[in-house]
Formats: sequence, structure tokens, C-alpha cells
Amino acid sequence: MKNIDSYSHVRGESLFVDDLITRQDTLYGLVFDAPVAHGIIKQIDYSEAESIEGVIKIFTYKDILGENQIGGIIPDELLWTKNEIHFWGQPIAFIVATSEAIAKKARKLIRIEIEKLPAITTAKEAKAKNSFINAPRSFHLGDTDNAFAHCDFIIEGETFSNGQEHLYLETQGCYAVPMENGNIKITSSTQGPTSVQKITARVLGVPMHKIEVDVIRLGGGFGGKEDQATPWAVMAAVAVQHLKKPVKFVLNRHDDLRMTGKRHPYESTFKIGLTKDLKITAFEAEFLQNSGAAADLSPAIAERTLFHATNSYYIPNVKTTVLSCKTNLPPNTAFRGFGGPQGMFVIESAIAKAAHIIGVEKERIQEANLLDENDTFSYGQIATQVEAKNTWRTAALNFKLEKIEHEVRDFNAQNTQFKKGVSIMPITFGISFTNTPMNNARALVHIYQDGSVGVSTGAVEMGQSVNTKMLQVAYKTLGIHPSKVKLETTNTTRVANTSPTAASSTADLNGKAVLKACETLISRLSEVAANMLNTKAGEVNFKNDAVFVNNKKSPITWEDVIAQAMLDRVALTENAHYTTPVIHFDKTKEKGHPFAYHVYGTAITTTTVNCLTGTYEIDSVKIIHDFGKSMNLGIDIGQVEGALIQGIGWMTMEEISYNKEGKLLSNALSTYKVPDIFSVPKTVEIAPLETKGNDMAILKSKAVGEPPLMYGIGAYFAIQNAVKAFNPNYEPKFHAPFTPEKVLMGLYE
Ligand code: MTE
Ligand code: HPA
Ligand code: MOS
Repeated sequence: MKNIDSYSHVRGESLFVDDLITRQDTLYGLVFDAPVAHGIIKQIDYSEAESIEGVIKIFTYKDILGENQIGGIIPDELLWTKNEIHFWGQPIAFIVATSEAIAKKARKLIRIEIEKLPAITTAKEAKAKNSFINAPRSFHLGDTDNAFAHCDFIIEGETFSNGQEHLYLETQGCYAVPMENGNIKITSSTQGPTSVQKITARVLGVPMHKIEVDVIRLGGGFGGKEDQATPWAVMAAVAVQHLKKPVKFVLNRHDDLRMTGKRHPYESTFKIGLTKDLKITAFEAEFLQNSGAAADLSPAIAERTLFHATNSYYIPNVKTTVLSCKTNLPPNTAFRGFGGPQGMFVIESAIAKAAHIIGVEKERIQEANLLDENDTFSYGQIATQVEAKNTWRTAALNFKLEKIEHEVRDFNAQNTQFKKGVSIMPITFGISFTNTPMNNARALVHIYQDGSVGVSTGAVEMGQSVNTKMLQVAYKTLGIHPSKVKLETTNTTRVANTSPTAASSTADLNGKAVLKACETLISRLSEVAANMLNTKAGEVNFKNDAVFVNNKKSPITWEDVIAQAMLDRVALTENAHYTTPVIHFDKTKEKGHPFAYHVYGTAITTTTVNCLTGTYEIDSVKIIHDFGKSMNLGIDIGQVEGALIQGIGWMTMEEISYNKEGKLLSNALSTYKVPDIFSVPKTVEIAPLETKGNDMAILKSKAVGEPPLMYGIGAYFAIQNAVKAFNPNYEPKFHAPFTPEKVLMGLYE
């Protein structure tokens, strides 16, 4: 089954926030933001800006009737700042005008006087100055001190991984419309409609029921709209509350790039201990997370770094610590992988450095330590249905790893200007929100009297095709043609108190709720059909738009049963609630069973480096991925491809750059390079691993949104191997992205 949005996407008919038909009296918003990263506001003069024809009002913190607080996990972030500036791009005021052009003109006329203060831009500086978001977190397993005492090799090192811009095609935006009695309806490009509703109610000082949030679909989110779609919607809503007119606010690309947070840069140190037979017996790491100026989701992201710090390996003695460092950058936020990729880059770097020093190939160490059934993760969960070795071996076998490596050695022996490198990247990713209470979802299913069906869930469609999966669950369970099922917008009045669409768990959580609702409807309809056919409900089932009795087709259609159910006054609506069983986590002990299951996979990456220029191409990425039993392989392979390219971009070319004053230099697509059609791997092969699937995955089809991003880490080490093949004096460094400039320096150091 194709993505149900594909036709309207291709025809340009799909609706996004900016496509909404606006009311005639609509006004337009624009943020006036801080032009320094740290300082005290001495004076602001809005008079000239306000005097322009068409400027309706400029809103500041003084106009907030509720609480000036948008922090989610920690209440440490103002909607509009008062006197202090904490990052370049921090919202100070909100200009509302009759057009965007007028608002832009007005923005240039605001005069601000600031006493500048020194800015912290790196996590290391923050740590030195004791500037943190919250207390550090540490996971412990076994006894690393004792284990290091018995190691044959101990290797220490440091790593850096840069941030990453989400670059969703649709920028942040919303349209807020006043309804009657002070109610406001907000259409938002958000992954978290409930967060938008909750924070809007808090800032406006009204109950949540006065705020309705509707989401049609997103032109991409990638985590960037889990928390950071909220402030824009709240600003528009404050304006609506005062002006009683609709306000549209869609950020232009420059404003979006400057004002929003990104993937967290990490500076980390590691110590890894191995025995002669290459068993990793001890691992310690300290992760410095550059959180930016407010908590946002940083504490949860930091936690996931610890969960994935040992990737696909079993290490019996582990001590990992993460510090969320408060800096003067825009608050960094969720990004596909949610801190996991940053953790995995460190263990892969540690293994690469150990291999270099010991003088073995990295993959020998990787393979010797792959996770096995009943191994313990550092957070206490026992690994079951483990596919780490299976995906590794299947990849090596099916893709003829030995042949690939042989060809690369041959190529390198025969060429001086070009060198090739290969790497293997196993991944293990935990599925569930790490915060157990968030693992819940609901679905509301209506069967209309003509037999057509409307499905509402808490899931937000953002290109990952979750709506298609929800539709598949509904039509299969109801036994009707897919064209009879419609996926409704995501709306807080139909499905309330939702968790954001995130953690790759949306299809599992919402899909299970859809399944439950449809099963309940079918059990009611079975009674109706049994009465019509003088049989027992247990003998009835629904298939191909018809009723079957003991698997023999009856003359009664789906529509007949629905019509009879109306006459019998049987409820044709069902609301179901699902929560993930089994999972739990005790933060006081840092132990538990936080994940419903894990997703596994292995990627083999081959690259060619031009040793004159430092430029490189990714020749191929070949992946064995654990989809469980995929319910839609086309969609799932699309997710692997997209995530892989995003991961390669993060590891190789996407270079976020702030200057010492905290100003974003990579503030446009001319200075921030993302993968394009020329830089994607020449070949991508993705093959599903044959497995039983997992019962906690929807229809045994495992979550797929985030895990494959981490295959991209393989590109870093493939390039590194090519550099090593050219320059025997190269000392491996772990400083991502591995841009052509860094490659060139590595080739000739
Ligand atoms: N795919 C597309 N096309 N667009 C997106 O914004 N977001 C990713 C992933 N795949 C994203 C995407 C992220 S960060 C997550 S958490 C998951 O989709 C969320 O959706 P799921 O839970 O339905 O997998
Ligand atoms: N993943 C993604 N988003 C989240 C999580 C998580 O584990 N927890 C809270 N938001
Ligand atoms: Mo995804 S980073 O959990 O939105």
C-alpha cells in the first residue's frame, strides 16, 4: 500500500499551515529577537516601529495575562524575555501587522540598547564555569575500576560531534483564530499538539478546554517540532486573545534557522579497556551536552545518550555520565535519535582508537563484543530477541563482506590519488519514550451510517506515513476496503492529552489504540450480523466488505450490518486507550526496563576519498535491518533511506557554526550544506532480516523512524579508514562532521 498522501503531495494539493484559507481580517506576526547572545536590555524604543501604517500592536512580556513560562521539563524559559538576553535570536517582542512585509519594515525600526555580557558557546566552557541545566546523570554497571586493573589495553580519548539543523521543508508556523467566548483554534505545524494546547493555556491564563489545536500534517519535523513549534503558536494566541482577530505566523527560513535549537553538539571523553582477546571489559565516558540557554528537552535527550552509550555491545563494566551544559546558544532540542547518535559516536570512536593503537581492524573488536541474548544493558534491562550478531553475520554473508574488503585492499594497492575505506556499523535502539508515563495513546473511531469510517488518533503525520499505517490497521481489523477509511486531522478536541509524535513509537502506541477500538467495534457488529444470519457471533467474521460465517461468504455486506446496527441502536463509535505493558524505570537507581523492545541492524559502508582534494564519495551502504514483520516495506525502506542520508549528513558535511559571540554563521543554505542528490551514496541496498517480530510492535512491525539514522555513523569511519590507507602517520581524530577540509588535513598531517 502506498502512502495515502502520495497523490495529493505530487499534485501539490496537500495542505500545510501556509496553504490554509485565511479569514479576511487576518493579521500577520513576526518576532523581534535578540541581536546578541548574552546581555542586559537597557532600553527598547518601539515608537517608530509602532507608528508605521499597518502595524497593529507590538506584544511584549507585559501583555501576558497568564504565566510567562514555556518550559516543558524545567520551567526555565520565557516566551518573551524581560531584561536579560540568553541567546542570539531569543524572542523579545512580537510584531502584529496587516502584512508580513509591514511587520518586517517595523522590525528594522525597533531601537534596542544592550549591555553585552560574555557569551558561553561551548559545553567545555560551560563546565569550567559550572553552568549547568540540572544535576548530572550517571549509569553504572559492574565495577570499572576493578575491570581496568585487569585490562591488557586501556585507551583514552576525546570526541566532538556537532549539532545538526533539522531543515524540515516546512518552516515553523501556525494560524490562530478567535472563536466565540474567548476560545481559540490554533492550526499548528507541531509534533506535540497537546504541548501547544497546554502551554498556550498557561501563558494566556485560560483553561485548556478553551484552546483547540489542530494539525493537518507537517512538512517534516525530525524532532524540531516536538517542543519548538510551541512558542510561535503561543505568541499568535496571545495576539488573538488581545486583538480578537486571526493571526498567522509562519517563520521565514532565516528566522527559523536563527531562532530555533538544533541537535545538541557533544564534547565527550572516553576510557576503554580490553583484554588480549579483544573483549571490552570496561568502558567509561563523560558526555558534555551543549544544551543551549534553556532546558527544553535536554534532560531527556541526555538520558537517551546514556541508554545508547554502549550501542550494540555487551560491556560488563560501565560508568557513563552526562552533563547538560548551559550555554548562550538557542536551546538545543530533539533530533531523530534523541541523543542516542551522540552516545553511539563515542563508543564507536573508542573502539576505532583502540583498534588503531592495538593494531587490529576495528571490526574485529566490534564483532568480538556484539550483544547476545540475556546480556544486561548498563541500565539493567535484559536483552531479549537480540539480533545484533544475526544482522552482523547476515550482512557479512549476504553482502560478501570479505569480497568487498578484498576489492578495497586491491584498489588501495593500485591507486595513490584515490583511496577507499570500508566500515561496519551495527545499531541497537530502544523503542519507547524513556519517560514511562508518556507511553500512552488513544484512538477515536467512527463508523458512519453509510459504512465509511473516520479514524482520529494522537499521531501526527510528518512524512513518516503514520497515517497510512493507521489506515492499514483499521481496514484490516474491520475487514473493509482501504478506501472506506479516512484519517482525520490530529485534533486535541477529538484525542486529548497526547504524547508528542516522537520516540519512533507513534505507530506502535496509536496503532495499538486503533486496533483495540476496531476490535471492540467488530465484536459489537458480530452480534448484529449473527442476529441477521441466525448464527452465533463467534462464527462471524468480517472480510472483503462482507460477512463470513465459518469462513463462508454470506449474502450480507458490511453496509447491511451497519444499517442494521443503526436500527438496533448499536454504538458505531469507539474510543480506545493503550499503554505499553511491562516497561518501567527507577531514576533513583538508574535501573529498570525502559524499552518495549530494541531495533537492530548492521550497515556496511564503502567510500572513496580523493587524496588530492580531500573530497569523498560514499560508494555504497548495504544494510540488514530488523523491521520485525514490516507492515509496509515500501514505507519502512523509505524511512531507512531518509534516516541514513540524514545520519551521513550529520557525520560528514552538515557543519553548524557559531562565532565566539554566539552568532549563527551557518545561517542560510549557502553556508550550511545538507546532502543532495549528488552526495548521497551511489548505491543503497536495504534488506530486511527475517525475524518473528515483536508483540509490542504494531502488527509485529517494529518502529523504524529513528534507528537507521545511526547507520550514518559508518560513513565517518569508512572515510577514516581511507585516510589511514593514504597516510600512515594519521592519528585518528573523532571530530564530526568529517568535512573535506578535515579529511585533507588528515591526509597530510
Ligand atoms: N520521516 C519524515 N519523512 N519526516 C519526519 O519528520 N521524523 C522522524 C521519523 N521519520 C520524520 C520522519 C522522527 S525524529 C521520529 S521520532 C519518527 O519519524 C516519528 O514518527 P513515528 O513515531 O511514527 O516513527
Ligand atoms: N524520545 C523522543 N522524544 C521524547 C522522549 C524520547 O525518549 N522522551 C520525551 N520526549
Ligand atoms: Mo523524534 S527526535 O523522537 O521527534
